[in-house]
Amino acid sequence: MLGGVQLGLLAACIVLFVPMGMAGWHLSRNKMLFFSGALFISLAIGVHLTPYIPSVSDFVTTVSSVVVFDTRASCNSQLHEVVWEVKQSDEFNPLSNNSVNYEKSWKWGRSAPVIVCDFQKFDPMDAADLLNGSWVVVAGDSQARLIALSLLDLILDSQRMGAIRGDLFKRHSNYQIVIDESGMKLDFIWAPYASNLTDLMAEFKLNLSYPDVIIMGSGLWHMLHFTNASDFQLSLDSLRRSVVSLIPSTPNLDSEAPLTGSISTRTPHLFWIGMPTLINSMLNTEEKRKKMTDLMKVAYDESLRKSKLLRSSGGPLLLLDIETLSWNCGVRCTVDGMHYDGVVYEAAIHIMLNALLIESHQKL
Ligand SMILES: *[C@@H]1O[C@H](CO)[C@@H](O)[C@H](O)[C@H]1NC(C)=O
Ligand SMILES: *[C@@H]1O[C@H](CO)[C@@H](O)[C@H](O)[C@H]1NC(C)=O
Ligand SMILES: *[C@@H]1O[C@H](CO)[C@@H](O)[C@H](O)[C@H]1NC(C)=O
Ligand SMILES: *[C@@H]1O[C@H](CO)[C@@H](O)[C@H](O)[C@H]1NC(C)=O
Ligand SMILES: *[C@@H]1O[C@H](CO)[C@@H](O)[C@H](O)[C@H]1NC(C)=O
Repeated sequence: MLGGVQLGLLAACIVLFVPMGMAGWHLSRNKMLFFSGALFISLAIGVHLTPYIPSVSDFVTTVSSVVVFDTRASCNSQLHEVVWEVKQSDEFNPLSNNSVNYEKSWKWGRSAPVIVCDFQKFDPMDAADLLNGSWVVVAGDSQARLIALSLLDLILDSQRMGAIRGDLFKRHSNYQIVIDESGMKLDFIWAPYASNLTDLMAEFKLNLSYPDVIIMGSGLWHMLHFTNASDFQLSLDSLRRSVVSLIPSTPNLDSEAPLTGSISTRTPHLFWIGMPTLINSMLNTEEKRKKMTDLMKVAYDESLRKSKLLRSSGGPLLLLDIETLSWNCGVRCTVDGMHYDGVVYEAAIHIMLNALLIESHQKL
C-alpha cells in the first residue's frame, strides 16, 4: 500500500516527467504544454472532488503540501544570505582598540535567489503589526536574552528601552512585558540547559496554553559545565520529543472556531537560537578557554544535527544561525568572543520576522 507522501511524489513526477517523456517522442512543444495543462486540470478537478472522496483528499493535500514546501524551503534557505560592512569609526581610539571602535551594518545579499524572496527589514510599526496580539516566548541562556532585547529594541522607543534593559538583564531571572499598543506579550524564560527547555514544553502542555512564537536555544552552559557532547545530545533528544508532542495537540485549541482551511493556524512557530562562533583566545576565563574549544564546538554542533531538532534535519525548529551571522560579522563584533554586538542579534530578529512572514503568507 502506498503512503500519501509516495503518492504525492508520484503525482509530482507525473506532471513533470510525462510531458517530458512525450517530448522525447517528438511531440511538438504546444502539444507538450497541452499535456501538462491537461494533467494540471485533472489535479485541479481532483481538488474540487476532495470533499466527496476521502482518499482523494489525502492525495491532493499531499500534492499541494509538496508544492508549498518547495517555495517555503527555497526562501528559508536564503534567509541568512546577509552581507556585513564593518568599518573603523571616525572617533577611532587606538588605546581602546576594541569592538566599540567599529561601525557595523548588514543587508541581504543581491544574488538572484535572494532577490526573488524580497526580504525586508521591518520598521517598528510593521513588526508590531505582524506580532499584534501574539504571545512570544524567548527561552534560553544569555544568547536568548540578547535576542529578546533585540526584539524589544526593534518595537519600542529608546526611552522605554532604557528602563527595560535593567530589568531584562537581572542575572538569571525571568522577565515579562505586555506591550499595550499592540497587545503583544513577551516572556523571557531563563533556561540555560536543554533540560530546562524540556521542562518548559511540559509546562505549556500541562497548562494547555501555547505561545504563538517560541524562540529558544541552549548549549553554551552545557559545554562549560558538562563538556560532554553525547550527554548534550541526550538532552536534545528529549527536548525534541517534548516539542513534537506539543505540536499535534495545539490545533485542538481552536476546535470551536470555524475551520479556515489551515488547521495549523494555531501551531506555534518554532525557532532555535544557534550557538555563536566562539573565539577561544578572547574568552574571558581560563576555564572557558580550556573547555570551550573549537573541537568541542564542532562536537556540540554535530550533536545538534544528530538530534534532528532542526528543520534542516527533518525536525520542527527553524535555525536562527547565530554562528554564521557572528562569523561573518567577525572579531570586531565581540568583546568576549562569545557575546556579540546587538547588530548580530538584530539581524537574527529580522530573519525570524521574514520567516514568520513566509509562513503566514503560505497560510493565507
Ligand atoms: C587593532 O587590533 C587588531 C587585532 O585585534 C589589529 O589587527 C589591528 O592592527 C589593531 N589596530 C590598531 C590601529 O592598533
Ligand atoms: C492590533 O489589532 C487590534 C485589533 O485586532 C487593532 O485594534 C490594533 O489597532 C492593532 N494594533 C496594531 C499596532 O496594529
Ligand atoms: C535547569 O536545569 C538544571 C539541571 O537540571 C537545574 O539544576 C536548574 O535548577 C534548572 N534551572 C531552571 C531555571 O529551571
Ligand atoms: C502555567 O500556569 C501557571 C498557573 O497559572 C503559571 O504560573 C505558569 O507561568 C504557567 N506556565 C507557563 C509555561 O505558561
Ligand atoms: C558523557 O555523557 C554520557 C551520557 O550521559 C555518559 O555515558 C558518559 O560517561 C559521559 N562521559 C564523560 C567523559 O563523562
